[in-house]
Amino acid sequence: MADTLPNGSDAVIKLSAVELALGSGAARVHILKHVSLAVEAGESVALVGPSGSGKSTLLMTMAGLERVDKGRVLVAGTDLAALNEDGLARFRGQNVGIIFQSFHLIPNMTALENVAVPLELAGRRDAFDRAAEELALVGLGHRMEHYPSALSGGEQQRVAIARALVARPAILFADEPTGNLDETTGREIADLLFATCAERGTTLVLVTHDNALAARCDRLIRIHSGVVDANDAGLAARSAAE
Ligand SMILES: Nc1ncnc2c1ncn2[C@@H]1O[C@H](COP(=O)(O)OP(=O)(O)O)[C@@H](O)[C@H]1O
Ligand SMILES: [Mg+2]
Repeated sequence: MADTLPNGSDAVIKLSAVELALGSGAARVHILKHVSLAVEAGESVALVGPSGSGKSTLLMTMAGLERVDKGRVLVAGTDLAALNEDGLARFRGQNVGIIFQSFHLIPNMTALENVAVPLELAGRRDAFDRAAEELALVGLGHRMEHYPSALSGGEQQRVAIARALVARPAILFADEPTGNLDETTGREIADLLFATCAERGTTLVLVTHDNALAARCDRLIRIHSGVVDANDAGLAARSAAE
């Protein structure tokens, strides 16, 4: 169940007045400052801003991997503050996929085993069959028994995409998904991401430094020193239109 925005559309992600600090003592950093935003179901959104502005932290907050100090985080109809650690893990398994710049595959598992992990965690008996189908869809049907070290960067990211999408999450979060890839490979990975998300109606939230990649998204959300540009939040225009 998604939260309904003032214009009647559905927000699959809604943050209200979120504050988040990390670190302790003198090293404590106030990272997210009064962040409010909404993302609609099926949208693709690019989070952009200078290095250190809080993009990754914001993404992890929306993905249920970072808890906020204040404010509300509603994702796929769930108030994340209400969940304990087990509840958050279950929430992530059922609702979100995440990919990273550095792929984060499990090195001693084959491509097939890596992709099967989310389904095995969910107790699915068809985990390996479904993982094999998903790998074929990302163009790696011929690399299933390979270990990550035997795959190119682009191939590793395809495995990571298959793993993130195999359980058909409503939302895919991607933190600089092409940041470790050459330009051509990065474009191929972006093509795969956009095509798959469009086909399945998956909401895509990605962080990128690449203007060309950001421009392919439906919308930009700019962040500076932990503050989201009010014009980008996806809220102001709707309230004003009421
Ligand atoms: N666990 C942490 N403890 C303390 N400071 C952190 C922690 N994680 C991130 N930071 C700081 O928060 C700021 C935002 O980090 P991050 O979200 O990674 O920014 P970005 O992804 O935009 O480069 C940076 O100044 C970073 O050093
Ligand atoms: Mg980052």
